[in-house]
Amino acid sequence: MKYPFGTLTLTDGAKRRIGEALASGRLSSGELVRQFEQRYAAVVGTAEAVAVSSGTDAVALALATLYDFGAHRGDEVILPALSFLATANAVLMAGLKPVFVDIRRETLNIDPARIEPAVTGRTRAILPVHLMGKPADMDAIREVARGRGLYVIEDAAEAHGAAYKGTSAGALGDMGAFSLYVAHIITTIEGGVVTTDSEEFAAILRSLRADGRACNCKQCVANIGTEACTKRWEGGTDRRFLFERVGFSARMNELEAAVGLGSLEMYDEIIARRRENLTALIQRVDAMGPYLSTFHEEPHERFGPHALPVLVAEPAPFSRDQLVRYLAEHHIDTRSLFQSMPTQCPGYAFLGYRVGDFPEAEYVGRSGFHVGCHQDIGLDHIDYFAETLRRFLKEHA
Ligand SMILES: Cc1ncc(COP(=O)(O)O)c(C=O)c1O
Repeated sequence: MKYPFGTLTLTDGAKRRIGEALASGRLSSGELVRQFEQRYAAVVGTAEAVAVSSGTDAVALALATLYDFGAHRGDEVILPALSFLATANAVLMAGLKPVFVDIRRETLNIDPARIEPAVTGRTRAILPVHLMGKPADMDAIREVARGRGLYVIEDAAEAHGAAYKGTSAGALGDMGAFSLYVAHIITTIEGGVVTTDSEEFAAILRSLRADGRACNCKQCVANIGTEACTKRWEGGTDRRFLFERVGFSARMNELEAAVGLGSLEMYDEIIARRRENLTALIQRVDAMGPYLSTFHEEPHERFGPHALPVLVAEPAPFSRDQLVRYLAEHHIDTRSLFQSMPTQCPGYAFLGYRVGDFPEAEYVGRSGFHVGCHQDIGLDHIDYFAETLRRFLKEHA
């Protein structure tokens, strides 16, 4: 049996829209992107959504809006040491400085007790990550943010369908940044989207994704009815070629939006299937004995069923790498559970952190991996995974 990590649900609705877009010849950002934004905002429960070209861009653009609100280049952003490296890359892409704090091993998320001591006079934002779709401790995070006048931007790349105390991920801070990459729950193949309740943030995001241009109204940026736009010549010059900010080239195209609209049509079904799988996978790992563990949903939250994280206990009579190689030999696809970005990713050595600075994130970096729970696997895959784990443990523990 083969147990792949991810899947792509390309619906009939998506294929129809792709065909229509191809026939129309209108392929760069347009009506479909706007429709995708409206439907995505409705799913998350925010007033606005702005589609961009990746989850990394979503985080970077959300952070770059802060220059309109008094931030300066080089100001600091507090984020967890453990995440996919894109989270930290996005901070640097936005021209800001990442300040890392350790995580809690049980939640895989930023340790809220460590945030306040990391705040300085140059801190502008907290960037929690809802890793593996488990919401970060938002009450504690928002309390620090409120007390110190900081913005909260959620890296919700892996948290489609997650909720914290009844509110969806992406609606828990000032802005939420989602990845729509193919391995994620809702996908445009490549893509990202920022959600927010603020019309002001949304307008700045539309400017930032189009190189920082002044023209940022919903119609013009999607090239819908541009000729009729009354704002285009405001101030006596063509606002499409007036650049107000240092921007990005980060637009979504119509073909990607078509795939995303199809994905959204199956949203409830995809989430339900993945939740069922994740629950069954957690039960199997819980029954594996002392050397393997996973995370658990708490009463106040709902997981976004992104994937199943697994941690190998330290000490154990085998390593994470031995186990994932065994799984690979049995055609079970895994991914590492990322690394401590400042101390286990060589590209970040220039920041001067040292191994040992983030013991919890580093433990996960050595001992964690994750497995898919996607809509195209079923109980037979899950039983096969459990049986393969049992055989490995019998041989090695
Ligand atoms: C936590 C996290 N943040 C950011 C990203 C970046 O998203 P993308 O790959 O769409 O740029 C990812 C991607 O998987 C992620 O897992």
